[in-house]
Amino acid sequence: YGKIGVIGAMKEEIELFLDHMEQVKVNEKANVSYREGLLHGKNIVLCKSGVGKVNAAVTTQVLIDTYGVDAIIFTGVAGAVDPELNVGDIVVSSECLQHDMDVTALGFPRGTIPYEETSLFISDEQLRQLAVNASTELFEGRVKVGRVLSGDQFIASREVVAQLYSELNGACTEMEGAAVAQVCSLNHIPHVIIRSMSDKADGSAHVNFAEFTLQASGNSYRIVDHMLKHL
Ligand code: ADE
Repeated sequence: YGKIGVIGAMKEEIELFLDHMEQVKVNEKANVSYREGLLHGKNIVLCKSGVGKVNAAVTTQVLIDTYGVDAIIFTGVAGAVDPELNVGDIVVSSECLQHDMDVTALGFPRGTIPYEETSLFISDEQLRQLAVNASTELFEGRVKVGRVLSGDQFIASREVVAQLYSELNGACTEMEGAAVAQVCSLNHIPHVIIRSMSDKADGSAHVNFAEFTLQASGNSYRIVDHMLKHL
């Protein structure tokens, strides 16, 4: 991969990259700053998309059109959905699905985007393997490859989490991954989503989120850092 786009949604999720990048050139487009530079000698374009699927989609398309990235890595935090996952654990995406896509009134299953070939956006095998290797080395036994569910909702309910797990087979839930994955898929650009669990998406999510976001962002940063070193 000649040039890699690295996206985080929030300041905490990209801050450590900013601290370690060299020869940075900054440009702005549609209210997002794009920072081109080097990390471990690799060309990267770092940006903070902002929260939610629309922000993530716009940012991804700009990375592809304006910056010509060859691959995209999303780094950040998520709420755990799989009951085996705990705060601090890592999910590497096998695929992404929009859990808030709901056209069930017309008979489409929940999560299905009507009239599209697929609603499941699969990550790149090589990037996934690199992420798994990095996570295993850095956080032994605390990594799962699984389905990332995305929606424009912060989930903080035990009932909703149980449903996301049983109906949609999610490993974790967040607010951007499936948008990035869909835009990458439409453009034939490889991607992977790497999420460290900041909370369990239940009643304590708001407390946990504030407390563990910095730490979980650090986990995700270390994985991407390790990936870039080994690319
Ligand atoms: N990101 C981190 N925790 C989350 C949650 N519980 N719901 C949605 N996005 C999140």
